[in-house]
Amino acid sequence: MSAERLTYTDEVAKETGPLYGRLQKQYSPERWQTLAPYIHEINRLKKEKNAVILAHNYMTPDVFYGVGDVVGDSLMLAQKAAASDADIIIQCGVHFMAETSKILCPEKKVIIPDMEAGCSLAESITGEDVRRLKEQHPGIPVVSYVNTSADVKAESDVCCTSSNALKIVEALGREGHDTVIMTPDKYLAQNVAAQTDVKIIIWDGTCMVHERFTAEDVKKMRADYPGIFVLAHPECPPEVMAEADYAGSTAQMDDYIKEHQPARAVLYTECSMSDNIAAANPGVEMIGTCQMCPHMKRITLPKILKALRNEGPEVRIDAAIIERARRPIERMLALS
Ligand code: 13P
Ligand code: SF4
Repeated sequence: MSAERLTYTDEVAKETGPLYGRLQKQYSPERWQTLAPYIHEINRLKKEKNAVILAHNYMTPDVFYGVGDVVGDSLMLAQKAAASDADIIIQCGVHFMAETSKILCPEKKVIIPDMEAGCSLAESITGEDVRRLKEQHPGIPVVSYVNTSADVKAESDVCCTSSNALKIVEALGREGHDTVIMTPDKYLAQNVAAQTDVKIIIWDGTCMVHERFTAEDVKKMRADYPGIFVLAHPECPPEVMAEADYAGSTAQMDDYIKEHQPARAVLYTECSMSDNIAAANPGVEMIGTCQMCPHMKRITLPKILKALRNEGPEVRIDAAIIERARRPIERMLALS
């Protein structure tokens, strides 16, 4: 990228001005002048290369609103990627999300701007671990959260997301399974177990962001901000869920706020999502919680531009694993 292109020109100011109108609370004018030229150049280049940018709800607002073509929760991004006619997918999220896109669109070039953008849940279990679990519990179906590697998905019977986990477990119950194995998030599994008669064998993984929230945090929040509406992601511990007014995936929480417009709300989830919701819902006072996912925060505008220019780093998965990993994802879609 040449120095000229990164200059905050009149053209950049004109094109990004309306967006800055919505993001003024998030960025000072000086900061915006460093971000806007990247937004301008990324948007130009992605058209030239027929690339689509998928931005997860945890991206910072400059990425989420500035360059994201499709925004949403982890599953929604992959589904929309599969439906797109772009040649290149730039995954602005973490590695398992890019792998899910590759599994659903193997013919496309799937690029992640930083290969090190991992996930504590995905890293807590391997395909070998799942094989061992199946040996220990023969005949018991394995439900794996989408926050897993392609290898883990390939060994699983069905996937789930935070939005459909209960539905998937209950569907297996109706198929005659009184017990299922759920990997890798112990809190998601415990939260589902509290709502179903199906017995759940739990793997001991956690999200390094959501595990930090406590019931005490929520109680203090309510004391500090009387009347506040509390939303929590199901990766939070059950004691947090018990204190929340609403629980759902990132997309479900977003939809809830859009639809109900509470006067004041707090999200027990990654902090950028509050910024993104605040920008889209000026009538809702969002109180931030400040738990940041270091993996998600690896994805920045300069890295996205570099990835677009280099058309890499590309996510590659063995064709046989893609074939096997697609089945549990498709089964999830059929069951939910
Ligand atoms: P969602 O599927 O709800 O977007 O969650 C993904 C994630 O990584 C939450 O921490
Ligand atoms: Fe993984 Fe947690 Fe980060 Fe989501 S927030 S990507 S579950 S570490």
